[in-house]
Amino acid sequence: MNLFATKPIDRILAESEGKGGESLKRTLSAMALISLGIGAIIGAGIFTLTGVAAAQHAGPAVVYSFIIAAIGCAFAGFCYSEFSTMIPIAGSAYTYAYATMGELLAWIIGWALVLEYAVGASTVAVSWSAYCHSILQDMGIHLPQAIVASPYDPTPGSMNLLAVVIIAVISTILIIGIQESAKFNSLIVVIKLAVVVLFIGLGYFYIDRGNYTPFVPPNVTGEFGDYGWTGVLRAAGMIFFAYIGFDAVSTAAQEAKNPKRDMPIGIVGSLAVCTVLYILYALVLTGVVNYKDLNVAAPLAVAVDRMHDVPWMAKLMKLGSLAGLTSVMLVMLLGQSRVFYSMSRDGLLPRTFSTLHPRFSTPYQSNILLMIFVSLGAAFTPIAQLGELTSIGTLFAFVLVCIGIIIMRRTQPDLPRPFRTPLVPLVPILGVLANFALMASLRFTTWATFLGWMAIGLIVYFSYSHSRSNLQKSLSGRQ
Ligand code: ALA
Repeated sequence: MNLFATKPIDRILAESEGKGGESLKRTLSAMALISLGIGAIIGAGIFTLTGVAAAQHAGPAVVYSFIIAAIGCAFAGFCYSEFSTMIPIAGSAYTYAYATMGELLAWIIGWALVLEYAVGASTVAVSWSAYCHSILQDMGIHLPQAIVASPYDPTPGSMNLLAVVIIAVISTILIIGIQESAKFNSLIVVIKLAVVVLFIGLGYFYIDRGNYTPFVPPNVTGEFGDYGWTGVLRAAGMIFFAYIGFDAVSTAAQEAKNPKRDMPIGIVGSLAVCTVLYILYALVLTGVVNYKDLNVAAPLAVAVDRMHDVPWMAKLMKLGSLAGLTSVMLVMLLGQSRVFYSMSRDGLLPRTFSTLHPRFSTPYQSNILLMIFVSLGAAFTPIAQLGELTSIGTLFAFVLVCIGIIIMRRTQPDLPRPFRTPLVPLVPILGVLANFALMASLRFTTWATFLGWMAIGLIVYFSYSHSRSNLQKSLSGRQ
C-alpha cells in the first residue's frame, strides 16, 4: 500500500492534453485573469457575512479582521502562483497535492475542497435568497417566512426554498453547458465593482462617527470570540470567506495567454483589489449602520435603506448584488464538478462523476448529485455555519498548498519555476501559521463538523478509492 505515491508531473501534463487540452484556447490576458478572480471573489462574504461578523464578534473592528485575513491569503496566493505556473493544470490544489505530497493527501485536499466549493455554493445561495427576498418585498411581494429561512435561523422558517431554487437554476445552466465566458464574467464584474464602489462613495456621506465608538467593542464575558481582540480574530476566520475565489484563477492556467507572467498577476492582483475595497466597504458599512443592527443576511440592503436621499440606489444595489452572487455560485459549482471530474478520472471517485452528457458534454450526473447535496445544505443551515465550514475547508487546503511548496522545493529543485514564491521557506511557513491561526479561531462546532467530514473522507478513501486508484493500479502492474 503506497499512500504517498505521487503522480509524476509529466504524466499530469500529458493526461491534461489528452483530455482536450488543445481545445482550450489561450485567450486570457492579465486583466481578464484579474477580472476572473474578482468575479469569483466578491460575493456573500461582503454582501452578507460582514454584517454577521461585525454584529456577533468584532463590531467596527471587522476592518482589522479584513486586514488579518488578507495577510493569510497573500501568503497562500504566492504559493498558488508558484504552483499554477509550474503545473498549469485546471485541477488546482488537488492536482498540486497529487504531484507533491502523494495520493492520500491529494484525496484529503480534494475532500476538503468540497467544503470550499459545494458548501461555499450553499452559503452564497442563502445570501442570494436574502437579497432576492428583500427585492421581492420592495415590489410588494411577501413570501411566507417558512420558505425563506432555515429552521435554525434567528427568525426561523421551515426551509430556505428560494436558495434551493437558485441552486437548481444554476445547476441546470451548468448541465446545458453555458460556461461563464470571459465576456459574461467581465460584465458581472463591472456591475459588482460598481455596486461596491458606489456604496463606498455614497455611503461615506451617511457615516455617523458615533457608530465607531467603541471601535473594538470590549469583551465582557471573557469568552473567546465575544468581541474584543479575540472577536476580531474570530471575525477574521469568518470573513476570510470573502476572499475565497482568488485560488479559482489558478484553474484557468491552461487558458492564459502568458501564464508564466500573468497567473501571479491575476491571483495576487485580484486579491489586492478586493482587499482595498473590502476595508473601505467595512468602514462604511459599520459607519452607516450600528454594528448591533447588522445581524442580518442582507446588511448592504439595511445600509442602503438608511440612505434616504437616494431611494433608487437601494434597488440598484440589491439587483447588482444579486447578479454578483449568481456568478460566484456558477464558479463554485463549476469548480466543484471540475475537481470531482479529476478525482473520478484518477479512479478515486465513481465513474458517474466523470460521465459526460451525450449531447451537452458536461458531467451532468455529478451536477445533479451536487445540486441535491448543495440544496440540502442551503435549505436547512444558517449562513454563518455554512460560511465557517467553507472557510475551515479552504483554510485547510491553503495550509497544505503552502506545505506543498516547501516539499516541492526539496524534491524537485530543478523543475522550471516561472514564478518563485519569495523567501521560501519563510513565506510558506508564515502562510501555514496565519491560515492555521484563522482555522483555530473558528467555533468548536465548525471544527467538529470539519473533523467529522474529513473522517468520512478517510473511510471512503480506504474502503473504496485506494484500491481503485489508477495510479496504484499502474504501480502494482494491474494496469
Ligand atoms: N468570496 C466569495 C464570496 O464571498 C466566495 O461569496
